[in-house]
Parts: sequence; C-alpha cells; structure tokens
Amino acid sequence: MAGATRRPYGVVTRGTTNPNRLRRVDNWIVATCGDLLRGAPDPLVVDLGYGATPVTAVELRARLATGVRADVRLVGLEIDPARVAAAAPAADPPGLTFARGGFELAGLRPVLVRAFNVLRQYDESEVPAAWRTMTAALAPGGVLVEGTCDELGRLGGWLLIDADGPRTLTLAARLATLESPAELAERLPKALIHRNVPGERVHDLIRALDDAWLAAAGYAPFGPRQRWLRAVQSVKDAGWPILDRPTRWRHGELTIPWPAVQPR
Ligand SMILES: C[S@@+](CC[C@H](N)C(=O)[O-])C[C@H]1O[C@@H](n2cnc3c(N)ncnc32)[C@H](O)[C@@H]1O
Repeated sequence: MAGATRRPYGVVTRGTTNPNRLRRVDNWIVATCGDLLRGAPDPLVVDLGYGATPVTAVELRARLATGVRADVRLVGLEIDPARVAAAAPAADPPGLTFARGGFELAGLRPVLVRAFNVLRQYDESEVPAAWRTMTAALAPGGVLVEGTCDELGRLGGWLLIDADGPRTLTLAARLATLESPAELAERLPKALIHRNVPGERVHDLIRALDDAWLAAAGYAPFGPRQRWLRAVQSVKDAGWPILDRPTRWRHGELTIPWPAVQPR
C-alpha cells in the first residue's frame, strides 16, 4: 500500500539534546567527510533524529557551511511531528529545513547522514536493518555517521558506515576531564555497547587503551593531551591498526577499522 510505504520508519524516543553536544563528531565530519561533500553534485546532508530542539542541526549546518562549503543544504528529519513543528522557527531555507521522516530518510538522497543518540534507544537486534535502510537511501558514495555521546558531549563513539556496512569506529573524549579511557565504553555505538565483555574485540581494545593510559601516567605533568598521544601510540605499536595521524589523535580521538572491533 502506498500510504504504508510513506510511513516514517522508526519510533518516537526521548528527545534529550544540548547545545554543542555534538561538536566532537561535527569537527570530525568536517575533517574526514569534507572532501566527499565538496565533491558532491548536490551537497545534501540529513541530521536524523535531532530531538526536542533543533539546536544540534543548526550547529551542524553552521559548521559545514563555514568549514566545508557555503551551499550545503541540511535537512533535519524527526519522526515526532511535534518536534518538526517546534523546529520550524529555526529554519533558514534553502540551507536549513526540517521535515518529518525516519530511517527511510523521507525520500531524500543525501550524501551524508548524521544519526546521533538515535539507535541508542532501540534494541541491538534492530540496528542492522536501520543501517541498511539508511545506507540504501544515500546518494552514490554517501556515508552514514551513527553514534552516541554523553549529555554534554565529553565522551562519544561513532561508526562511519557506507553501502557495504561499517568502515570505522571512532572513540572521542574531552581529555581535560577524562579519568580513564574505560569511561568510553559507556558511550559506544549501539552495535558495540553490549559487547564490552571478555572475548569481544572492542573489550580488548578498551582494555589495551586503558592499560596504555596507565602506563603513560608519567606524561600527565605535560597535560592530558600528551598522555593520550602516548597511549594511542603505544596501542598502535602493540599491533592495533589505529588510523589517522597524531594531528587527529590530539583532539582526543582514536579511529580504527571496523573488522578490528566488530562483534564476534
Ligand atoms: C536523544 S534524541 C537525540 C537528539 C540529537 N540527535 C542529539 O544527539 O542530541 C533522539 C531523537 O531521535 C528521534 N528518533 C528516534 N527514532 C527515529 C527515527 N527512526 N527517525 C527519525 N527520528 C527518530 C526521537 O524522536 C528523538 O527526538
């Protein structure tokens, strides 16, 4: 039935959000997906599930417009019609609009989708179908950035996913308040959060990072950034296929290919 296929796919969940909560992932998107957006014939981006207020959608549009290309078009999609109505005053067409939609992306063909703190409230078993639905709607070569963070955006974890599935996991922390990398386990993406148990690769990674952080305690007097850089380098030296260079690590990030952490 045509009406059934138009129904947004998903369920309304808590709308918790906060200004600047998603700055870490946004800065990573600008750095990592900037070229993809710059080369796109239509620089359309979707922020899926922006929440009770559209503040993080407004911020993503601003970061992309200043950091990547001024003509970026961001559409905030929400499954809750009341949240779509509430966001209307923040619209700034054509660069920023809001509409109702779910994982099917409301018929849009974006080159990039950010879906943050959305799948966290679903069951783990629902994740693969949600990924498949979103990536099937992407423009050719497009990507999905799907992840989770804490309420203030101090700790986060996200996956870069394309039509072939997940490519990388990124962990990110505000180093000034990080006591131990083990805290990152609470903010793993939904596909991994229940896998921080012995025998799973992501558990081994977080343990290796935690051990390296402890071993790098001597760097603490030089600041948490130096300590993190040392810890990430040690994890890499131990054989973990850490990606990127220290220029990204210094932001409190660590990115690793999906096969190194995917559930067994
Ligand atoms: C916790 S809020 C996240 C807000 C914002 N992205 C952030 O990270 O701060 C989750 C939002 O996702 C929306 N949502 C849940 N499933 C959805 C779906 N399938 N499609 C669109 N929105 C969805 C909920 O209605 C809710 O407003």
